[in-house]
Amino acid sequence: MLLGGLAEIADVGRDSRRGGYSRHLWQGADLELRSWFVERAERLGLEVETDRNGNLWAWWGSPGADAVVIGSHLDSVPGGGAYDGPLGVVSSLDAIARLQASGFVPTRPCAVLVFAEEEGSRFGIACLGSRLLAGAIDADRARALTDRDGVTLADAARQVGVDPAHLGVDRVTLARIGLFIELHVEQGRGLIDLGQPVAVASSILAHGRWRLTVTGQGNHAGATTMDERRDPMVATAQAIVAVQAAARQHTGARATIGRIEAIPGGTNVIASRVHAWLDARAETDAETRVLVADIQARAQQAAEQNGCFITLTEESWAGAVQFNPGLRARFAAVLGQVPQLPTGAGHDAGVLAAQVPSAMLFVRNPTGISHAPEEFAEVADCVAGIDALELVLRDLL
Ligand code: GLV
Ligand code: MN
Ligand code: MN
Ligand code: MN
Repeated sequence: MLLGGLAEIADVGRDSRRGGYSRHLWQGADLELRSWFVERAERLGLEVETDRNGNLWAWWGSPGADAVVIGSHLDSVPGGGAYDGPLGVVSSLDAIARLQASGFVPTRPCAVLVFAEEEGSRFGIACLGSRLLAGAIDADRARALTDRDGVTLADAARQVGVDPAHLGVDRVTLARIGLFIELHVEQGRGLIDLGQPVAVASSILAHGRWRLTVTGQGNHAGATTMDERRDPMVATAQAIVAVQAAARQHTGARATIGRIEAIPGGTNVIASRVHAWLDARAETDAETRVLVADIQARAQQAAEQNGCFITLTEESWAGAVQFNPGLRARFAAVLGQVPQLPTGAGHDAGVLAAQVPSAMLFVRNPTGISHAPEEFAEVADCVAGIDALELVLRDLL
């Protein structure tokens, strides 16, 4: 049954506290989804292997060079929606099932690829599996990343049978990818506004993550008068307001603090330090850098007003991406009048675009909401996405 895969995993990783789904790398729900994928792929006669970085590959026919690779990811943000990632994986399997059922015989290798840790929800770096594969992150740095419980990526990998010594750029695997296509639920309102079910992606905003640390003086909430305080929570609150003000002054820019951590974190304790994670995005690399410098200056001012000091550390960076013009033109020729849309969301296809021709298909999301439980796609639109993927596969294979 078309899209039956989404129904099969509908209960995996539900987050009763936050709503939606929490599916984080190599933990319960993610492991369950990986097993589900292996079983689903094997049912189609695909041969599944795990690459050196924990990404899953399901080959239709023999693995080989110049392959048409399609896929997405199965992990989620905390409390995320059902479609971001899984829609692309399920649609990829369904498109292959349809081609098989019609007796289509591919003339080049084809694989479904499930990337590890696309959201960076466990180890903090988005698109970690594709960055490792492509050599876009240093392997030593990656091995030392820790999750919120202090577990390193190296230890987490070892626990699931991925040899941490082998993490990092994988030129043999990379060389097999002739081109990569990721189908994804749209995460904004582009297709709603156009009244269309499916689009081809044109570009991705430049984006990155920074850790803002505001240090003050931990102290007693009752014994410290308001004039005596150097409270990093207050400085951080002012900095967060300044993030919004800064982003509004840069056309098309987006800046978000979606996560903070107060240390030590007691109700009757003035914090000694606060970490706040900044996600900043803009159309070009240079504009994003200017935005972040502006935010840093404003945060500095907020800190000084409160007797605190700050550091701003870059945790990850992804330059702006223009998807392959040749592939986009080929998609347009095959699909007819299909819109081309930019996106502010990051994707593994964006990471791979620096190495191999890459393209994306977007499926309309009628709520316009993503990274939240309200993310949605109508069945008819998902089917239109699979139709589109099937057509481009027929053309490319
Ligand atoms: C990933 O979905 C991102 O764009 O942050
Ligand atoms: Mn996402
Ligand atoms: Mn995604
Ligand atoms: Mn993403």
